[in-house]
Amino acid sequence: MDVIALDDPTDPQIRGWHSVLAAVHAAEPDGDPAPQPHQTAGRLLGSEQGSRQRLWAAVDGTTMIGVAALRLPGEPGADRPGEIDIRVHPAHRRRGAAARLLAVAADGLRADGRTSVIAQVLARPAAVGFLEAHGFRLVLTLQGLLLRLADLPPGRVDELRASGPSGYELVRWRGVVQDEHADALARAKHAMADLAEYEGSPWDADRVREMAEMVAKRGDDLYTVAAVRGDVIAGFTEVVVPSGASGRAAQYDTAVIPEHRGRRLGIWVKAAMLDWLAEERPDVTEIETDNSGDNVHMLAVNEELGFRRERETREYLARVDDLPTS
Ligand SMILES: CC(C)(COP(=O)(O)OP(=O)(O)OC[C@H]1O[C@@H](n2cnc3c(N)ncnc32)[C@H](O)[C@@H]1OP(=O)(O)O)[C@@H](O)C(=O)NCCC(=O)NCCS
Repeated sequence: MDVIALDDPTDPQIRGWHSVLAAVHAAEPDGDPAPQPHQTAGRLLGSEQGSRQRLWAAVDGTTMIGVAALRLPGEPGADRPGEIDIRVHPAHRRRGAAARLLAVAADGLRADGRTSVIAQVLARPAAVGFLEAHGFRLVLTLQGLLLRLADLPPGRVDELRASGPSGYELVRWRGVVQDEHADALARAKHAMADLAEYEGSPWDADRVREMAEMVAKRGDDLYTVAAVRGDVIAGFTEVVVPSGASGRAAQYDTAVIPEHRGRRLGIWVKAAMLDWLAEERPDVTEIETDNSGDNVHMLAVNEELGFRRERETREYLARVDDLPTS
């Protein structure tokens, strides 16, 4: 077995990569639709704005048996963790492929001046066993929830909307926020304190716009509903409808700023979002979301809306010093 770097992946390498992802998905369905070749190619050929990526593959002769993608957010040496994703074909497990891939990725992290790395995985024995055997520790548990719109009891959304607090106005927009609300939205994003801390850089109007532009560049649609009082956004929720016709939309951020909590604003903006989507995007049949396992309020709001727990995702962190070298 050899490990090769894919600095400029060729078509056969992209096909090899895709066949590993497809085999892993077929053997261990994760609740998401099967990956499509064009999505794999898109991911391998372009990186998200504001980050770089490095790719490696484990090959046995001419067959690709495992892959590793390392995302490096920010500039080299940035004080942010890299993000690693390793997958090994189910027919080639327990032969050290993942361990070899991790070792070269660790060299890549060192070369980029990073001191830590995270891995987000489904809570399954292989992933947990592998990460825990290699110096990673659990830092976050996420509950993956799914709302099937057809399962919503009739009248439920209207009821929740009608029970909204007085003194707030609902404002909604598609894509980039209007200039008049951009600063207020940035302030509301700060309400997601954990996330802001985690991502390192504070939210401002430019970052808010950049995030929306990035979604548009991928061809996806971002919908936002906000509860506004005066010039303050007291709470907001965001849903992204991906391009293509899978029917599944993704919940992005939802937050209520501390001074306005406890008034059912979270559930109100989410109910208004469901109403809007039903009207504007009848192609959306389900919405997925991840909630931190200790965010009991958001879990309660989502369960009241009809979201059901589907799977558990975990985030692991390792210090690069604790990782092997190749
Ligand atoms: C997790 C995964 C990448 C491991 O790939 P692999 O090539 O089989 O792993 P390796 O052979 O390099 O295993 C190295 C060590 O990890 C641990 N490990 C790997 N699979 C394990 C399992 N199923 N149960 C317990 N420990 C396991 C063991 O300590 C193993 O050493 P050993 O075989 O000498 O006991 C693979 O199972 C996979 O692709 N899973 C789905 C995707 C995923 O969850 N990736 C998460 C990593 S970011």
